[in-house]
Amino acid sequence: MTIAASNLGRLFDGEGYETPPIFMRSHADAFAEYRHRSTAQPIFFGGDAITVLHALPDESVDCCMTSPPYWNKRQYENGGIGLEENFKEFIDNLLGVTAEVYRVLKKSGSFWLNIGDSYQNKQLLGIPWRLAISMCDQQRWVLRNQVVWNKVKGSPDNALDKLRNLHEPVFYFVKSHSYYFDADAVRSSPKHARVVNGAVISATGVSGVRYRRQIELSSDLTGEEKRNAFVALDEILMQIARSELADFRMVIRRQQRATHSDSEMLSGRAKELRDRGFYFLKYHPKGSKPSDVWDIIPEDTHDRPGHYAPYPEDLCKIPILATCPQDGIVLDPFCGTGTTNLVAYEFGRKSVGIDISTEYLRAAHARCARP
Ligand SMILES: C[S@@+](CC[C@H](N)C(=O)[O-])C[C@H]1O[C@@H](n2cnc3c(N)ncnc32)[C@H](O)[C@@H]1O
Repeated sequence: MTIAASNLGRLFDGEGYETPPIFMRSHADAFAEYRHRSTAQPIFFGGDAITVLHALPDESVDCCMTSPPYWNKRQYENGGIGLEENFKEFIDNLLGVTAEVYRVLKKSGSFWLNIGDSYQNKQLLGIPWRLAISMCDQQRWVLRNQVVWNKVKGSPDNALDKLRNLHEPVFYFVKSHSYYFDADAVRSSPKHARVVNGAVISATGVSGVRYRRQIELSSDLTGEEKRNAFVALDEILMQIARSELADFRMVIRRQQRATHSDSEMLSGRAKELRDRGFYFLKYHPKGSKPSDVWDIIPEDTHDRPGHYAPYPEDLCKIPILATCPQDGIVLDPFCGTGTTNLVAYEFGRKSVGIDISTEYLRAAHARCARP
């Protein structure tokens, strides 16, 4: 990996000035001071990600969100990761960074990693999954989700012998089994139930009339099971009326297609269906959680001609809101033009950005410069 010496150790301070190189003020000292600041304005460090991360203490950041360079696609200023001859070497270099992220992340912390794939001799290399599996196997990361970032509108692809590539993964890792995750911060706002002619209608129009008829006409439920099902249905409708639930679905034996494994060994719902004859799927009153497919149009870079691969601000919103506490610190070790830091700042979270390119850091600093 080649790094221009002039770029090593420069610090772009959130207060709006560029301090002298590292030998005058260490990254460790600057970070220690930053943690106690009252403002959420980001701090940016210039240099190689691993070298700068070495200066941060163990378990000092709450959340990391980043997008490393692609392998073998672009030449960023000052070289850096992505220019390796061999993609395995590229993965090893990234593993060096993820090991440092693991060290600096709190036990309660989360790591969101957006990484694109590359082709070699017509072969899609599977770099994202190779890296994710190595992180789990070699570094004890716990993989919680693979988000599919659907770019909706891709760039043109003139290859006549394959499909257009339109998505990238965003892996969601944690460090321990007990971690910070604020699901309520990212729920979609719930729809509300209505009362029409005295009958409760759920957010999506479920009134219970159809379920009542199915229970009545069922030849599979016993008399006692039918009585219990009516009581349970009334109780659910009362919960809807009291806004304790936004919505529900009822699954009745041999009426609806079950949403679980049929094996009673595997599924509690299969047992419930066998023993009671019905069960309910209840929708959270605060709205539903985002899924693991995100439709987000890529950033329009026309107004930032110097950077080829900024990711959209929307990609950072769920990660930061759900996994960085209000008084926490976000880290992006390949921050480029500072998108992660900008979103963190807008949500009132402190953040650290690292990049090897002075030019990108200047842009990042300018984007986050307003008070
Ligand atoms: C895909 S871009 C990140 C873009 C960023 N998410 C944004 O929205 O602008 C990857 C970045 O990694 C930086 N980079 C490459 N090698 C690096 C290294 N060894 N240490 C730190 N940064 C590096 C590049 O300069 C580039 O800005």
